[in-house]
Amino acid sequence: MTIAMRRYTGPADLRAMQDLTQHMWSTSSSHHVGDLAWERLHTTQQADWPIALWESQGKVVAWAWAQLPDGLRLEVDPAHSPLLPEILNWFDHLAGDRPREINPLDTQSDLRTALLRHGYEPQDEAPFFAYHSRDLTGLPEPVLPDGFIARAVRSEEDLDRRVAVHQAAWNSTRVTLESYRNVMAAWPYRPELDWVIEAPDGRFAANCLIWHDDLHQTGLIEPVGTHPDFRRLGLARAVCTAALHALAKEGGKNAIVYPRGDDAYPVPQILYQSIGFRPYTRTRTYRKERAAVISPAT
Ligand SMILES: CC(C)(COP(=O)(O)OP(=O)(O)OC[C@H]1O[C@@H](n2cnc3c(N)ncnc32)[C@H](O)[C@@H]1OP(=O)(O)O)[C@@H](O)C(=O)NCCC(=O)NCCS
Repeated sequence: MTIAMRRYTGPADLRAMQDLTQHMWSTSSSHHVGDLAWERLHTTQQADWPIALWESQGKVVAWAWAQLPDGLRLEVDPAHSPLLPEILNWFDHLAGDRPREINPLDTQSDLRTALLRHGYEPQDEAPFFAYHSRDLTGLPEPVLPDGFIARAVRSEEDLDRRVAVHQAAWNSTRVTLESYRNVMAAWPYRPELDWVIEAPDGRFAANCLIWHDDLHQTGLIEPVGTHPDFRRLGLARAVCTAALHALAKEGGKNAIVYPRGDDAYPVPQILYQSIGFRPYTRTRTYRKERAAVISPAT
């Protein structure tokens, strides 16, 4: 069977990557259709990062997304796992002289074996993400301070405030009006699952966006934030809970979220566990220095 590699050419390819990711999704997957859309569309820099797709009979069977200078995301149909060394070589070529890192899940044994063969070493002390899930039965009701309202966004009319609350929560201007407009236009964004808390003064105080994979009835929470002026009022818990109720209404059965699991950034994990999320797997950093020797696949 012939497999051809080609470079990413535009939004139709993002959808082809999402199709593979959706088709392959399970609780052993690194990626969900939602985080591909969120990560791809919200900054210009990320839009420039190189992506390659491997196709068999016109269908994408693997993709690799170099997050330069030193990171790689990838998804490979397990039936095509012999492609892994070629994909890692592609990334070696892009990373050049720099050390590089890949963060598979503990459950991705094919990938972890390929990384060891390719000269990567696990870094057990590195920061990691703890993948959490919960089912949507028995959700608590959102509890809000007086005068605050939870609601879904109303597309363009809310765009300024929606971007402002994200920028304030993350103390960053990487998400812009233009990039958020792109997010809103992307599959599978739904305004019904993009929730905010409106403060008495009209500002948006907190937000929670959920991406619904309706094939697996599983929504990904990405991202959540509370404006620094409104922290510790229960608003993140309230906006997530309200968004999870909306997900259940849209047919979702489960939700997942990936907070940091190490002690250096513990608050989001505490927040999600306070809403009933529980960890099910984690990322582990594999690092390769430029001088590492590549072992042949056996
Ligand atoms: C994480 C974040 C969303 C929390 O927002 P928040 O509105 O202040 O959180 P809440 O008031 O709803 O807190 C809910 C629970 O989370 C935990 N929590 C929140 N902030 C905490 C803190 N600073 N220290 C310890 N626990 C904390 C508590 O258990 C809290 O419940 P309690 O107040 O009843 O004890 C906010 O700090 C933020 O926007 N951070 C930057 C963006 C970010 O990291 N987003 C999450 C990425 S996965």
